[in-house]
Amino acid sequence: MKDLDAFFNPKSIAIVGASGDERKPSGVILKNLPAFGYKGKLYPVNPKYETLSGYKCYPSVLNIPDKVDLSIIIIPAPHVPKILSEHAEKGIKNVIISSSGFGETGEEGKKLEKEIKDIAKRAGIRILGPNCLGVIDNHTRFNTFFLPLEKVAKTKQGGLSLLSQSGSFVGFFWDIAPIEDVGVAKIVNYGNRADVGEIELLRYLAEDERTKVVAMYIESVQDGREFIESARFCSQKKPVVAIKAGKFDKGIAAVKSHTGALAGRYEVYKAAFKKGGVIEAFNFLEMYDYSKGLAMQPFAKGNKVLIVTCAGGIGVVMADLAPREGIELPQFPEDLKDRLKKRLPAYYSINNPLDLTGSTTDKEYEMVLEECLVNNPFFDAVVVVAHLAVPGLTKGVFDIIAEKAKKSGRPVVVCSTAGEETIAVKREVEEKGIPVYFTPERAIRVVSALIKRGRSVNSLNTNRATSYVIKNEFIEKAKTIIDDAVPNRDRPLLEDEAKALLKSIGIPVPEHFVAQDKEEAFHAANTIGWPVAMKIVSADILHKSDVGGVKLNIKNRDELYSAFDAMMDDVEKKANNAMIKGVLIEAMVKKGTEIIIGGIRDAQFGPAVMFGLGGIFVELLKDVSFGIAPINMDEAMEMIKQIKGYPLLTGFRGSLPVDIDAIAKTIMTVSELLNGVDDISEIDLNPVIAYPQGLVVVDAKVLLSTNKPPLH
Ligand SMILES: Nc1ncnc2c1ncn2[C@@H]1O[C@H](COP(=O)(O)OP(=O)(O)O)[C@@H](O)[C@H]1O
Ligand SMILES: [Mg+2]
Repeated sequence: MKDLDAFFNPKSIAIVGASGDERKPSGVILKNLPAFGYKGKLYPVNPKYETLSGYKCYPSVLNIPDKVDLSIIIIPAPHVPKILSEHAEKGIKNVIISSSGFGETGEEGKKLEKEIKDIAKRAGIRILGPNCLGVIDNHTRFNTFFLPLEKVAKTKQGGLSLLSQSGSFVGFFWDIAPIEDVGVAKIVNYGNRADVGEIELLRYLAEDERTKVVAMYIESVQDGREFIESARFCSQKKPVVAIKAGKFDKGIAAVKSHTGALAGRYEVYKAAFKKGGVIEAFNFLEMYDYSKGLAMQPFAKGNKVLIVTCAGGIGVVMADLAPREGIELPQFPEDLKDRLKKRLPAYYSINNPLDLTGSTTDKEYEMVLEECLVNNPFFDAVVVVAHLAVPGLTKGVFDIIAEKAKKSGRPVVVCSTAGEETIAVKREVEEKGIPVYFTPERAIRVVSALIKRGRSVNSLNTNRATSYVIKNEFIEKAKTIIDDAVPNRDRPLLEDEAKALLKSIGIPVPEHFVAQDKEEAFHAANTIGWPVAMKIVSADILHKSDVGGVKLNIKNRDELYSAFDAMMDDVEKKANNAMIKGVLIEAMVKKGTEIIIGGIRDAQFGPAVMFGLGGIFVELLKDVSFGIAPINMDEAMEMIKQIKGYPLLTGFRGSLPVDIDAIAKTIMTVSELLNGVDDISEIDLNPVIAYPQGLVVVDAKVLLSTNKPPLH
């Protein structure tokens, strides 16, 4: 028996706090269990009763004569610790605590939760909950939910399993499943997650034969890194679809750097999902749609999709949606086009979407699918629009579609309606293994999910060891630089120190020198070569331009001296109590494309790296992507390609294409640096100037874990 089996298929259960009152949760559970189909032994526990609903009732679990596989506790929270100790004494190893009144209520509740955790740990008891509905296993017919069966839908057996923090979410999920014709395997609502949570459950469902797809409702995760690992483990075996709720929670406390400010938790979750191979759904419908599509069809190996339609407009709507969903609708290869031309009426135009018009027939669909799907590997997936209102189409067309899909081994999704018969036809088609969606939007998005699944399978199989680009000795060097510069960790690195650190790990920075006075500044500029940039160096000033602390393009001594005086005046006024270490004199770098690369240490997921285009792209449009460290080459490339402004990096409208490879390597290096040096809490390389060949970091801010935030 596997670790968590007793939660899904217990042979004997106790219900502690059982009641005969069906208006109470404890009464509902007692009534539901046998009604849902539980056939094992059932022991109600409640000192107030001798019998309950025909069962002998026990004053305590200690009085139950047999072994108890699983106990469901539903009594007021303050009594739970004592009762749990009795479970320990009895040797019960698995407990669902349905009762609320724990961590979710405040400090007192948190204490109580800690107490039950400690008891359970000492006794080797596994807890699901508290504050949860528990488990439904639709195949073993086990149901601990206190939702009266007569008030909820009957949901058919199938392959979709749901893990949810929220109980109300699963209530809705359960009721909507039959409307969406989704078969359910297991549902777990783990509530406060004192012990068993999504990390273990994902591993459990990965091995569960009944589960074909795992859907998740996530507000938070137990442990970010472990979550990614278990999601990867599960995704390697079957698709995982997740909804992240609480997207706009200001998870990260006030932070001063750009990267910090842009790192809303949700962005980092997205990156974590990607790393874990998890496909994100944005709403209920998507969750059902994706889960169904992913359970029924193989994933798409690429994003080249063919749309075959009998309804021109529907094809057009799909074509409009395709690019936003990462779908390419390429034209037919010449040979295939010729073959189709010969075999279709002359007035058809052979384009993608392929509009077979309202005068088409089953036979035409058969020919087209045989040619485009079975005989030719060009398209990675096909969306078939088959509207039965077209006179020449019969239900037989779905047999044809199913047969061709199977023969080709590539994914096919159908968009169809059929008037009053809609639901019945849809059911029949889905029984043949082809998912059907009523609207073009839904069909297209499912194809997009199949493509994402293909990508994720691909990246799950790549070797993660390829992520390492900097050697250990570089990490050691970086640590030494920090130790020497800020032994007490009482301030951020100064710009020159941050740049020395970057240089030591192979990231290019402009030549620079810190001067104490005008004379030294002049001397430095002469050595570096004119023109130069001048910047204030102060641990109290993070954003130098804001206080007049940056002067650019200084061409000679006169300009240098007056810039120096003006800077000191300005800084004196705008950052009056800042300690000034000097001015940085630095080579002016050539114009190029401004990008930003940053790093944060996320409370949940640890080191994460951000990438974006500089200037308004970051500040106004928030066009950034995140990756969780360590980041390998593929992941770095994906981060770069993911931003909307990506075309600007590849030579949009005559701009010079930049060195994507160098950017990817810098992202990887920053990820390694964060991973290797715990003391760094935030990095902000803003801007980095990228060129057709190479890049240079023009501004670097490095905050250390124990620093107080800078004043300005
Ligand atoms: N060495 C340099 N060469 C060319 N431009 C520079 C240089 N240093 C700074 N800049 C420009 O000046 C801007 C502000 O400088 P930066 O060091 O980023 O200061 P801040 O602390 O205000 O972010 C940069 O965004 C960049 O456009
Ligand atoms: Mg800057």
